[in-house]
Amino acid sequence: MGIRHFSSVLSAELEGVDARLIEVETDIRAGLHAFTIVGLGDKALSESKERINSALKNMDIKPPEKENRKVIINLAPADIKKTGSQYDLSIALGYLLASEQIKPFNTKAILFAGELSLDGTLRPISGALNIARLAQKAKIPYLALPAANAIEAAIIPGIIVVPVLTLSQLIDHLEERTLIDPQPTTNVIKPPESPFLCIADIKGQANAKRALMIAAAGGHNLLMVGPPGTGKTMLAQAITSILPAPALEEIIEVTGIYSSAGLLKEDSYIGYRPFRAPHQTASPVAVVGGGTNPRPGEISLAHRGVLFLDELPEFRRDLLEALRQPLESGKAVVNRIKNNLTFPARFMLVAAMNPCPCGYFGDSEKNCRCSEFEVRRYQKKVSGPLLDRIDIQITVPRLSIQQLRTEHVSKDTDDVKARVLGARNRQHARFAKKSRGKKILTNSELNSKDVDELITLTKEASAHINAVFDKSLISARGYYRILKVAQTIADLEDQDEVGITAINEAFSYRLREDDHQQHLGKRPLSALGR
Ligand SMILES: Nc1ncnc2c1ncn2[C@@H]1O[C@H](COP(=O)(O)OP(=O)(O)O)[C@@H](O)[C@H]1O
Ligand SMILES: [Mg+2]
Repeated sequence: MGIRHFSSVLSAELEGVDARLIEVETDIRAGLHAFTIVGLGDKALSESKERINSALKNMDIKPPEKENRKVIINLAPADIKKTGSQYDLSIALGYLLASEQIKPFNTKAILFAGELSLDGTLRPISGALNIARLAQKAKIPYLALPAANAIEAAIIPGIIVVPVLTLSQLIDHLEERTLIDPQPTTNVIKPPESPFLCIADIKGQANAKRALMIAAAGGHNLLMVGPPGTGKTMLAQAITSILPAPALEEIIEVTGIYSSAGLLKEDSYIGYRPFRAPHQTASPVAVVGGGTNPRPGEISLAHRGVLFLDELPEFRRDLLEALRQPLESGKAVVNRIKNNLTFPARFMLVAAMNPCPCGYFGDSEKNCRCSEFEVRRYQKKVSGPLLDRIDIQITVPRLSIQQLRTEHVSKDTDDVKARVLGARNRQHARFAKKSRGKKILTNSELNSKDVDELITLTKEASAHINAVFDKSLISARGYYRILKVAQTIADLEDQDEVGITAINEAFSYRLREDDHQQHLGKRPLSALGR
C-alpha cells in the first residue's frame, strides 16, 4: 500500500498528414478503484477502456476494471487533442507494465499504434505511414503496429516495423519468448501502367493533344472549352496515360495523405498518379478538405496527380473560389479552432466546359440557341481570378463525321509519354542545380521570383515580350504563367533558352480574361485562343 507504480510508453497522434509523438503515462496507486483516461481524448478513446478490459480478460490477464487501485492514464502533452483508437495498444501495455504483469522493456525504443478488438486481435489504423515517418524523424528504432498496416509503414526506411496480429503475440515478443519477424522493407515497385484510356485512342484533336502534352510535361493547369461530344472528357481521362510514374518520394507523400484519411483499403501504397473527378454537386469541404475531424479533400487526394472538374461552370461558385488559394500555394489550409491544419495539394487542375448552356456557341455548323446574355452569364460562373490561374486554355472543336471516319490515331501514347518524361527530367536537372535547395518538381510550381531567376529568355524573346505584353493588358500573374508554359515548351524541344516561338505558343493558350468575360459573347469562339 502506498507505493505508486508508473510507466510511460510511446504512441502517436495524427494532425493532418503529420504525426506527433504522444507519451502514454500510466499511474497506479492505492485508492478506490478507478480507471480514468485524462489528456484531451475523444469518444474513441473513452471506448478504448472497454476494448482493453475485454481484450485482457479474454487473455486471462487481470484487466484494469478488476484492479483494486486507482489506474490513471495520462496522454501527454495535454494541449493536443487526441483522436482515434490507435492508443489501445499503448494504453494496454502501459497498464501491464505499471501493474507489473509484464517484464520491463526499453520503452523509449519502441512506438506503439494499434486498435484492439475485444478478443485481443489488432485492427488496422489510419495513418500508419505517417506514424512511421514520425518514428524515423524522432529516431525511435522500432514501430509496433497491426500487421495489416505493416507493408505501408515499411515503405519508410531506417526503422524496424514489427507487424502484430494479437496483443498476446506482442507480449511474447516484448518478453523475448517468441520474437516477431520484422516486416521486410517494402519495395515500391512501380506497377505497370494500365490507364483505362490512352491518348492514342482519341482521333484528331492534334491541338488539344499537344496542349495535353505540354500540361503534363510542366504540371500546368488546363481548361478545355468546346461543344458537347468533342472528346473533352476523353482527353482529360487520357492524361494519366502520358504522365510519368511518380518517384518514391512522391509515392510516400501521396500514400501519407491516403493513409491519414484511412483510404488505403486494398492498396498498401499509392504507386500511381491519382486522378480524382469529383461530381458537380460536391461540397467545398469534400473538395478542399475540412470538417470537424479534418480530412483531406479531393484536391489533396489528387496531390501529384490530376483533379478533373468536368462541366466546370456547374460546380458551386464558393467551391471554385476556394480553389484559388491552393492552386497558388500547392497546399490546402483547413481552419480549426485552435490551429490550422495544412494538407499538401499540389495537383494539376484539368477542367472542361461547354461554351454556353446549349453547348454550340461558336460551333462552325450547329446553331447556338442561347441569347448573348445567357452565354455571358454561363461563362461568368467561372471567375476571372480562377481563369487567371489556368495556364493553358484551349478550344476543342467538333470533328466532322468525315474526320472521325478517316482520321487515324495520330501519335503513339508511349512516344508522347517519353517526351513528357524527357521534359520533366530537364526540369529536375535544372532545379537541382539552380533552385538552391528548394524542392521544385515542375515549372508550374515556380513563383514569380523563381521565374525571374530560373527562366532564361533569348534576346529576341525578351524584346518580343516587351512589345506584345504591353498591348495585351495581361495581368502580372498571367505574364509569369505564360513564361512558365513557354519554359515547358522549350523543355519539350530540348532547348536551354526560351525563344519567340515558345512564347507565342504559350501566349496563344490563354483566352485572355477580358475576352473570356466580356467579348466572348460577341465574337465567334474560333476567333479566340488559337
Ligand atoms: N476525337 C475523338 N476520337 C474518338 N472518339 C471520340 C472523339 N470525340 C468524341 N468521341 C466519342 O464521343 C464520345 C463523347 O466524348 P466526350 O469525351 O464525352 O465528349 P465531351 O466531354 O466533349 O462532351 C466519346 O465517348 C467517344 O466515343
Ligand atoms: Mg464531357
